[in-house]
Amino acid sequence: MTEARVYPVTEAQRQNTLADNERYLEMYQQSVVNPERFWREHGQRIDWFTPYTQIKDVSFDHENVDINWFFDGTTNASYNCLDRHLEHKADQVAIIWEPDEEDKPSLKVTYKELHERVCRFANGLKSQGVGRGDVVAIYMPMVVEATVAMLACSRIGAIHSVVFGGFSPEALAGRIIDSNAKLVITADEGIRGGRKVPLKKNVDLALENQAVTSIEKVIVLRHTHGEIFWQEGRDVNWHDLTALASPNCSAEEMNAEDPLFILYTSGSTGQPKGVLHTTGGYLVYASMTHQYVFDYKDGEVFWCNADVGWITGHTYVTYGPLLNGATMVMHEGVPNYPASNRISKIVDKHQVNILYTAPTAIRALMAEGDAAVEGTDRSSLRLLGSVGEPINPEAWSWYYKTIGNEQCPIVDTWWQTETGGAMLTPLPGATDLKPGSATRPFFGIKPALVDNEGRILEGKQEGNLVILDSWPGQARSVFGDHERFVQTYFSSFKGMYTTGDGARRDEDGYYWITGRVDDVLNVSGHRMGTAEIESALVSHHDVAEAAVVGFPHDIKGQGIYVYVTLTAESEYSDELKTELRQWVRKEIGPIASPDIIQWAPGLPKTRSGKIMRRILRKIASGEYENLGDTSTLADPGVVESLIKDRTLAG
Ligand code: PRX
Repeated sequence: MTEARVYPVTEAQRQNTLADNERYLEMYQQSVVNPERFWREHGQRIDWFTPYTQIKDVSFDHENVDINWFFDGTTNASYNCLDRHLEHKADQVAIIWEPDEEDKPSLKVTYKELHERVCRFANGLKSQGVGRGDVVAIYMPMVVEATVAMLACSRIGAIHSVVFGGFSPEALAGRIIDSNAKLVITADEGIRGGRKVPLKKNVDLALENQAVTSIEKVIVLRHTHGEIFWQEGRDVNWHDLTALASPNCSAEEMNAEDPLFILYTSGSTGQPKGVLHTTGGYLVYASMTHQYVFDYKDGEVFWCNADVGWITGHTYVTYGPLLNGATMVMHEGVPNYPASNRISKIVDKHQVNILYTAPTAIRALMAEGDAAVEGTDRSSLRLLGSVGEPINPEAWSWYYKTIGNEQCPIVDTWWQTETGGAMLTPLPGATDLKPGSATRPFFGIKPALVDNEGRILEGKQEGNLVILDSWPGQARSVFGDHERFVQTYFSSFKGMYTTGDGARRDEDGYYWITGRVDDVLNVSGHRMGTAEIESALVSHHDVAEAAVVGFPHDIKGQGIYVYVTLTAESEYSDELKTELRQWVRKEIGPIASPDIIQWAPGLPKTRSGKIMRRILRKIASGEYENLGDTSTLADPGVVESLIKDRTLAG
């Protein structure tokens, strides 16, 4: 089913762009026919301490997966985001910070000031014994200091591991243990929608976990000035640390393939894995995609409202915009606080030109109708972006008409934590838009569709989305577990990167993402593994077995549907449902809280004991006909009773 309406590039957009369609086609062709030549040229968009002579050395062979870009060059991420702008842009605003409370003042930080803050904090980190190759966990609210912390780490060659502030102490502890982080950087509290988030308290709880042995210090930013516990000798006040620190700190010379950061993300099995990105290729890809996808022009105000705890916040809050010397907005709060017109008001207040957000936020605002734009004109907007999940055509049209006044193209960007930057995306000025389609590949990206046997499908087809060759922003490994990297991404289809997404290609070669083909959920644009939630549930003493599936949800895209079998001694009750919800929030965080819990005295299993999720997904979605082949079930009666109880659930 192809959306009939096409939104063609207008003449004005075509004339005022980095790349019109002809240029896109020409550059795309060059990038895939001779990637070495293409990236030799575009790798120079960042500054190198030692210029590279080598471009690409890559193997996707599952016996020996090895990915290297620009690998004899040296550079530094923080230097590229800050120092090199000081000559011409020292007094230009780098970050406009907008607080949660509307009536509190916003804050503007210039490149010169940001540079100084980063240098001071980097020296502070050094004084605490942090150096090259050390892992630093960052558990911060959306404040300027989150960016300062990331850039200070990269300045001294430390590897940052940002953990989303919405994750629970248990989830934070798990990530600290896996990454062996030496230090945590946090704040007393964050504020979201008027509610305090007890970040320091969560860190204290995480560090009580006996298995956390690597943390030497906790650096605490006083942000809300709320009351906190203070452990002498361990806890260090951010302001004390930086007040006397020198404002000069030279940037470490890093090899292009030295690690830049780890970011944990969910997969279809086991606990989240630490996706590892390295320095040179990531920076080149972040800056190039930020510039071309958003057609970013000097002096424009760019606002990506993702949290720095996700990859979008790494590439399009911190690195991409700063690499390109942009002015960007950073907002601590939520899109609908104090009212649903907050995003629109921030756009007007700071004259935002480019707004990049997620379909779940768009759908939530759409539900409010015109209230979402009340009292605003948003006339500064030139371009809109969407990321994180498929955008349904209704939400696309509402975004286009109501937020964008029918003046702004929408770039629907498909990508992943593992890809580092946008992969399938329109380029404004080049690509005619079809609502719901992420359209065409970015430069250097060779997407393909394969069937379940790995055979490449040509033309108008639907299949598994794979990428046939490497690109500079690609993740290099899973931290501490290269074998898992190989297994997850390179073992299903030989010689190809497996994305885990399904897609369809239409008659114009446009891609339409159909969603995950594995056991990964996408809830409000947050990626979560069903296995993680199940393992949290079965760690509760009353739970014998649990199966988690996604189901369609109007605002969140997907909701979390949980089937629970209790132990023989436990009693099924509504109180227990509430307790289990709380339990999952405690184990993982509020984002993993089940929408619906259904008691399931039995689960549909094959005779070999495998849970048949396909059937559970259908029941959760209310699609009772067409359950497919149930003849292999050990006890077909289970299905009937689950359907009967479905209406009673949640
Ligand atoms: O299923 C795809 C979906 O989000 C997954 C990646 O999640 P994460 O690593 O958390 O990164 C999200 C932000 C880049 C993908 O496998 N996804 C992301 N963008 C889109 C999307 N699905 C459809 N359309 C998109 N534009």
